[in-house]
Amino acid sequence: MVSFQVNGNPVTFDGEGDTPLLWVLRDHLHLRGSKFGCGIGQCGACSVHIDGRVRRSCVTPVSAVSDKTVTTIEGLAPDDERLHPVQQAWIEEDVPQCGYCQAGQIMAAADLLSRQPDPSDDDIDAGMTNICRCGTYVRIRKAVRRAAE
Ligand code: FES
Repeated sequence: MVSFQVNGNPVTFDGEGDTPLLWVLRDHLHLRGSKFGCGIGQCGACSVHIDGRVRRSCVTPVSAVSDKTVTTIEGLAPDDERLHPVQQAWIEEDVPQCGYCQAGQIMAAADLLSRQPDPSDDDIDAGMTNICRCGTYVRIRKAVRRAAE
């Protein structure tokens, strides 16, 4: 059994410890904001925060988050009344096209800004390796800079 926190709530998982965290989030906890893209840690669609740092949940066995804190896109906003500054900037810059990768992009951007509060475009490109097949990278950079203001 693996015990951890998700979005501030204690959870336990009784299945196999090598079950990917992404499956636990989506199938057992019904938190479907984190997406399955490649399943091999390459695309970032499944990005969540583990103890405050962005991680790819498709290649993270649930046993690795024992006693840790997981935050998904559903828990990123500080409360029901306010969005996270990155979420707000994403809306203001109208970033998404198809939207599939965007939860992961937002989680990666929030982590980047927590480490680098005023990133350059090069910092953004180096710090965010999530793939967007619609090519929203220009708007992503704008939104990250807006969130940094
Ligand atoms: Fe996890 Fe692509 S689905 S990195």
